[in-house]
Amino acid sequence: MVAVSEQNLKRLVDSESGTISREIFVDQAIFDQEMERIFSRAWLFVGHEGLIPNPEDFFASRMGRDPVILTRNKQGEILVFLNSCTHRGMKLCRYDHGNARAFTCPYHGWSFSTNRDIVEEPGELVGVPHFDAGYGDRLDRKRWGLVRCPNVVVYKGTIWANWDTGAPPFLDWLGDMRRYLDFALDHRDGRPGGSEVIGGVQKWRVKTNWKFVAENFAGDMYHDISHRSVDTVGIGPGGKGRRDAQRPRLAIGFSDLGHGVLGELPHTVEPAYSPTFASDPEVEAYYRRIYDDRVRHLGDRPRVTNSVGTIFPNMSFHSRQPRTILITHPISPTEVELWRLYLVDADAPQPVKDAARHYYLRYSGPGGMTEADDMENWTYASESSIGSVARQQDFNYQLALGHARPAPGLRGAVQSGTYSEENQRIFYRRWAQFMAGKDWSELMPESDPAEVIANAG
Ligand code: FES
Ligand SMILES: [Fe+2]
Repeated sequence: MVAVSEQNLKRLVDSESGTISREIFVDQAIFDQEMERIFSRAWLFVGHEGLIPNPEDFFASRMGRDPVILTRNKQGEILVFLNSCTHRGMKLCRYDHGNARAFTCPYHGWSFSTNRDIVEEPGELVGVPHFDAGYGDRLDRKRWGLVRCPNVVVYKGTIWANWDTGAPPFLDWLGDMRRYLDFALDHRDGRPGGSEVIGGVQKWRVKTNWKFVAENFAGDMYHDISHRSVDTVGIGPGGKGRRDAQRPRLAIGFSDLGHGVLGELPHTVEPAYSPTFASDPEVEAYYRRIYDDRVRHLGDRPRVTNSVGTIFPNMSFHSRQPRTILITHPISPTEVELWRLYLVDADAPQPVKDAARHYYLRYSGPGGMTEADDMENWTYASESSIGSVARQQDFNYQLALGHARPAPGLRGAVQSGTYSEENQRIFYRRWAQFMAGKDWSELMPESDPAEVIANAG
């Protein structure tokens, strides 16, 4: 069922003149089409290796409206299955995480195995109550195995999945947005990877549309007025100072891919060290030492620092302070489930991890001071857009319209100053392409091999 034709999409999302209909934030039929055309085709973040460190560990995740099980089998493979029993649809795994030899359905007791020493294909049906008496050879256990997600990729500890067998490789999907994600995932001393998740995942629900969250993190510096009260109290990483005491950032948008960041262009000189933990000498000494290691490791290679961004459609991150991942799971047109994961150098001393955790929780998540501001913004923007008159009005996305110019050192990217809605316009252009049901050949930019080589490293 198609709720919105390509023609109607032009009316709903006019990114040339910078207006977007409120309908796309409140309408059920549009939401259903998003689930089918965006969330069943996009690469989606489903978890982190640290959430399933041991064989047979599992973690209950989501891909759009679909609940999924993320698990590691005995052979070490990371697998994603639809969390719904093939017999009558019961949610197979109702724990948030744990360790299980097999997944046994609580309804009629069908059980499924992922281990290759027991089954040929992970997810196969292995146990059926009253099998001989009730089914005999009529039940094909291979046919009724768990629905397995065909594409799963691990990138520096993060795990991504995609239902579409024709989907482009994950790194093509990411493009040069990878540089910004890397800064969140790499060790602070510049070595690739090396971060771990502190504790588990914070999960909470907010009455808003998922796109309000995604577009905020894609590059909305304009809303800093919302955080004025937070900026006047001492919630900086060291427990003092302003949370926004950092270098100016630009809106950098990936026009072909829909991703956006507020950040710096790649540069070859590490910004000067600025002490932030003066009240805690051990923590300060760690960051000082790591800074020197970083300068040594990276040499004059291009690097980015200090960014906040959204990878289309619903994975957002802060890469510096705090250093966290935020996933916005759509529940309905006006409800999301937010998941926050907090990252820290895996080999950092405990006091450094503790200091980071305290700052992260003060800043982000359901009890965080800045998240509280934004949750109000998003909730009330949704609530005030549902009414029959309100939903017929457009939103304005004209800030810095026409200011975009190429971003040097980044494939397919444009930059447009600190206060800009260019990244939002890019996000919604991408959204409309997916909603129109375009083929992958039209959705992905052609990669120029010479450019790929020039940008490697
Ligand atoms: S619904 Fe799972 S065994 Fe019947
Ligand atoms: Fe904010």
